[in-house]
Amino acid sequence: MNILLIGSGGREHAIARELVKSALLTTLFIAPGNPGTAELGINVPISETSIGELVEFSKRNQIDLTIVGPEAPLVLGIVDEFETNGLKIIGPNKLAAQLEGSKKWAKEKMERYGIPTADFKTFSNADDAKAYIVSKNSYPIVIKADGLAAGKGVVIAETELEAFTAVDDSMIHSKFAEAGTTIVIEEFLSGEETSIFAFTDGKTIVPMVPAQDHKRIFDNDKGPNTGGMGAYSPAPVVTPDVYDKVIDRIFKPLIDGFNRDGIDYKGIVFAGLMISNGEPITIEFNARFGDPETQVVLPRLKTDLLTVFWAIATQTLDQLSLEWDDTSTVCVVMASAGYPESSQKGTIINGLSRTTPADRWIIHAGTAESPTHEIVTNGGRVLGVVAQGPTLQGAIKNAYAGVNQIQFDGMQFRRDIGAKGLNHHKTY
Ligand code: AMP
Ligand code: GLY
Repeated sequence: MNILLIGSGGREHAIARELVKSALLTTLFIAPGNPGTAELGINVPISETSIGELVEFSKRNQIDLTIVGPEAPLVLGIVDEFETNGLKIIGPNKLAAQLEGSKKWAKEKMERYGIPTADFKTFSNADDAKAYIVSKNSYPIVIKADGLAAGKGVVIAETELEAFTAVDDSMIHSKFAEAGTTIVIEEFLSGEETSIFAFTDGKTIVPMVPAQDHKRIFDNDKGPNTGGMGAYSPAPVVTPDVYDKVIDRIFKPLIDGFNRDGIDYKGIVFAGLMISNGEPITIEFNARFGDPETQVVLPRLKTDLLTVFWAIATQTLDQLSLEWDDTSTVCVVMASAGYPESSQKGTIINGLSRTTPADRWIIHAGTAESPTHEIVTNGGRVLGVVAQGPTLQGAIKNAYAGVNQIQFDGMQFRRDIGAKGLNHHKTY
């Protein structure tokens, strides 16, 4: 099979790593890819949102199946365009991708399908939003831009002033352009977060093993939110009982509800969950794999990933039974100076060519090859070092041994990736 993988981040490098293990693969193309994916397939210089060019490329190169990494092309309707052109593609169509593209749409669906989530109200007028905040008089309160805001559209306001500022930034000062003209205001949830992804072909939904992200830039969950500074899997906060509840109360009602409403969702469902006293509550859904969680989830999948994708494309997921190994996997993200507010491009990265043991590898994200063939920084999250082993403790140690081999000016990384998981092990 000829496969086109769309995206250029660490998530896509991690997906590519699995795809090349498949006996079903003939050629892997990645658009636009990064220096890590270039080692596994052929990078194609087409951006992830140039949908017309991606369709043309797929036709010219006899692509059998396209896999979409990031949310932007899904929300723009890449799946509809490919299918109109008779091309097979994995991902929700434009309507179904509203699950991530509009928080209002997603919250209304959760309410309609009885999926546990924070109490909320939506607003398209700033005065009404402020009146609601005053009437609630309960802090923290959570203010969210409705549309895609590159992970920056959520404010957890501790005071009325902060809440009003968030409303004004989004609705009056157009901080998120169109994406912020409607907002969702919701109740603050406390507990421990986890990410659980599922494969679905629209009929059957098959959850993956859980992971935990580390969203804040600094150790001990301090500082601003980022796209994710590291992840580990399994996430012991997800006990077998919690996992069953997530399937019965969240994933199954979602797909059943979509079926009843005639919404055709296939691809990946990402549930961002808060676990509080053993009860899972949905924070949000995304329409794709998470980054960096994918880097720690997919290495544990023993079933051939391309076989799973093909089962989604042919709606035969019910005939497949997925196997996972019981290793622990850890990914430590190395970010560039200034991240998450800004990022530095063109800084030389040293130490990448050092040999790594079989149970540790480097995932490229914001990297580029310079004209003189050095690997340089090219974005906020630059690299991830992934380690896999029989224990979480061992995998953490191994990942940090890998991090210590890499050096670039201004690099930032957290030193506590996976530590929360160790705390759990101590308690049961
Ligand atoms: P989202 O973009 O909706 O995933 O929100 C980004 C992050 O904000 C989440 O991962 C949580 O850490 C936090 N967050 C969002 N909604 C809530 C909420 N209702 N209560 C507490 N934290 C939240
Ligand atoms: N790591 C969270 C996300 O991919 O949205």
